[in-house]
Amino acid sequence: MSQQVNLGMIGGGTVGSGVYHALSRNRALMESRLGIRLNWVGVAVKEIDEPRPYPIPRSLLTTDWTQVVNDPQVNIVIELVGGTTIAKTMVLAALKLGKPVITANKALLSAHGEELFAAAQKYGANLYYEASVCGGIPIIKALREGFVGNRITHLYGIVNGTCNYILSRMQHEGAEFEDVLREAQRLGYAEADPSLDIDGHDARHKIGILASLAHGFWVRPEDIYVEGIRQVTQADIRFAAQLGYTIKLLGIIKTVPGRGKAGEGGARIQVAVHPTLVPHRHVLASVNDVFNAVFVRGDVVGDTLFYGRGAGKDATASAVLSDIADAALEIKHGTRHRIPPFVPHANGSSVVPMDHTMSRYYLRLSVVDRPGVLARISSILGQANIGIMSVIQPEAHEGQTVPLILMIHDAPNAAMRKALAKIGRLTVVKAPPVMFRVETFD
Ligand code: HSE
Repeated sequence: MSQQVNLGMIGGGTVGSGVYHALSRNRALMESRLGIRLNWVGVAVKEIDEPRPYPIPRSLLTTDWTQVVNDPQVNIVIELVGGTTIAKTMVLAALKLGKPVITANKALLSAHGEELFAAAQKYGANLYYEASVCGGIPIIKALREGFVGNRITHLYGIVNGTCNYILSRMQHEGAEFEDVLREAQRLGYAEADPSLDIDGHDARHKIGILASLAHGFWVRPEDIYVEGIRQVTQADIRFAAQLGYTIKLLGIIKTVPGRGKAGEGGARIQVAVHPTLVPHRHVLASVNDVFNAVFVRGDVVGDTLFYGRGAGKDATASAVLSDIADAALEIKHGTRHRIPPFVPHANGSSVVPMDHTMSRYYLRLSVVDRPGVLARISSILGQANIGIMSVIQPEAHEGQTVPLILMIHDAPNAAMRKALAKIGRLTVVKAPPVMFRVETFD
């Protein structure tokens, strides 16, 4: 084993110390698989003595990140600090020196991916990001390499463990959203300000990265339709179950019919994150607790499924080790001629506005139980050419407010949104209508 590759890391907290620990544990295995010696040169941290789950030798630590990036001995820079400001400066500084960079930072890629990959190209260095999406699941590598010969027609992801934990417990224990959220916070799954998870922003970051990689153009976060899970109630979970569905927060990326931007060809891609009714029989309905899963359909391979832990120091470390291997091989062979981490290649493709997409819907209305109510609602839907597939209304006394559940046939999102606004204004409708999309995976 002649070649040595030197590593520098910025960030020595939960994930950083996890990477240090995992590499110490499996260094001999990795080194023999790669034929490369992997050597730590420095680790930049916020504070030398901050608490960390696994120790890092003091002799490696510095509080000056520039020392790590600029050290001529450091061949690969691993950025694990998070955030989108200083992290961007760090990544750009390393790329400018032509050093391959590894990041776990989904928020950074979501906000600045296009610019960072352009910089990587300009300075002849690769930017690796396996750990940024679904922690330990090697989904980036699968899309980049395993499916290089496929068009990715559909990708459905349960990519936020906190939301999946909350929805699973609501389903299996009959608990209400707020109670499970408090429990998730107590267990450390959800942040004290849980908005990043439960309002779908974290899932948006991840789905945007997967959509960009799968479709070869950088998908901007503002083009991704997002709804979180705050609106999902125990009643919805029960009614959905009665109808044969499980509610999951799904990230959805699918090619929809039609052509991309005028004159340029290309594809039209739907990219969205929202609570979704998944048929009980579909494999994603069985993905529970904090686990993540990504279901990918390629035009050659057909349907595939990836499952695993989407977060946590060890799962994330596993992804960083995989990137270290790729970057180290680049250095060993003095070439970047493997399949690159991201190359724009889809001129004219675009994200379709949500209003222009079609879906089936689940609708929950709170209505006064009175003759003619259903007729008025179905008349509004009928005028918009929207068909009702099935109806549930629990027995009640006339004049009481009752839930009315409607399953709606495929309809354009814009038409559904407008019809719902009209329905919401009826005096017999006593609360804002609740609407979730239904996925059939056809
Ligand atoms: N908060 C995320 C989740 C993990 O719950 O899946 C980090 O992306």
